[in-house]
Amino acid sequence: MDTPVLLPLVSDPPGPAGLLDARRRPLRDLRISITDRCNFRCTYCMPREVFGPAFVFLDRKELLSFEEITRLARLFVAQGVEKIRLTGGEPLVRRDIERLIAQLAAIDGLRDLTLTTNGSLLSPAKARALKDAGLQRITISLDSLDDAVFMSMNDAGVPVSRVLAAIDNAAAAGLAPVKIDMVVKRGVNEDSILPMAEHFRGSGHILRFIEYMDVGNHNGWRMDDVVTAAEIVERLQGRYPLEPVAPNYFGETATRWRYLDGEGEVGIIASVTQAFCGSCTRARLSAEGVMYTCLFAGAGHDLRASLRSGATDSGLAQQITGIWRQRDDRYSEVRAEISAQHKKVEMSHIGG
Ligand code: GTP
Ligand code: 5AD
Ligand code: SF4
Ligand code: SF4
Repeated sequence: MDTPVLLPLVSDPPGPAGLLDARRRPLRDLRISITDRCNFRCTYCMPREVFGPAFVFLDRKELLSFEEITRLARLFVAQGVEKIRLTGGEPLVRRDIERLIAQLAAIDGLRDLTLTTNGSLLSPAKARALKDAGLQRITISLDSLDDAVFMSMNDAGVPVSRVLAAIDNAAAAGLAPVKIDMVVKRGVNEDSILPMAEHFRGSGHILRFIEYMDVGNHNGWRMDDVVTAAEIVERLQGRYPLEPVAPNYFGETATRWRYLDGEGEVGIIASVTQAFCGSCTRARLSAEGVMYTCLFAGAGHDLRASLRSGATDSGLAQQITGIWRQRDDRYSEVRAEISAQHKKVEMSHIGG
């Protein structure tokens, strides 16, 4: 059968009311990095040559406390944020994260509370504790079902079985739907596309393929290493017929595809070949309280300084809305025109 073209399926944007940035994009999501540390050293994110024993991570007192995070989160929700995602680094390395989740889950007006993890620390008890605290769903990264390939990518000796167990633990705890994120890198794990699709078809989990991105300054990204969305769809279509599905919400990162035989859906996050900046509703808060308005930002806005110098809620809210109104970012759309000199904040720092 013919390969359908990838359509940029975007539902109607929210109305003009409320807070909009300079490109008329509303503020809907807040991605909060709660630690810059991770127990993995994925080659595309925290290559060991850079993030080795000498690398200096944030000190404890530099991190926002759970109370500080919750205070800011409440102010963001008051400005239109409906979804909060906790990220890192690896969010589950931060102690007592359940306490933070419980505080966030209690915020009025928040509709979606989720987390992105590598799964290595997600025991059955941890999954239940997260769910009990109010986490609604979870996204777990897994780049291959082949141990040699996966371990070469995570560079931390963690086998596939540990992450598969985490996926089961999440589902058993009711953190559903579980999404599985796979970064596809040419010549490294492209042969894992079909086995991953095969494995997760019919499981009720949603597998998403992510184009390898030029995040941070250290992963040695080259366009040649990107397996494009069109190519991923073509490979999938060759084995399992698919049809496109409309997005779940305005600004969804993934384009959705459904197996024609009813075995579920997959998503493709094509931020390199089909940038979705036009509908980007995401703000990011780093572990030390800096607000960024783009994943590829070179600089952010220090909210911790305001928090710790006695700013009032209305002062902070004004700062946040002022930053959002001025926001003009669209890095993925203009990547080709931006010089290689542009220094970006590291992915492990800003959150994925
Ligand atoms: P859902 O809420 O389930 O739709 O998830 P999500 O796609 O918003 O979040 P997730 O953490 O699963 O994101 C998956 C990957 O998409 C991230 O790890 C990034 O690689 C990429 N991504 C997320 N947000 C952005 C963004 O704003 N810009 C770009 N370029 N990539 C993004
Ligand atoms: N390209 C694409 N996605 C990346 N991630 C991290 N680094 C990259 C990159 N260079 C994403 C992966 C991982 C999540 C935490 O961040 O999806 O699962
Ligand atoms: Fe850690 Fe996730 Fe980065 Fe891998 S991609 S090093 S698991 S933060
Ligand atoms: Fe949003 Fe920046 Fe990603 Fe574009 S590149 S979608 S503006 S975070």
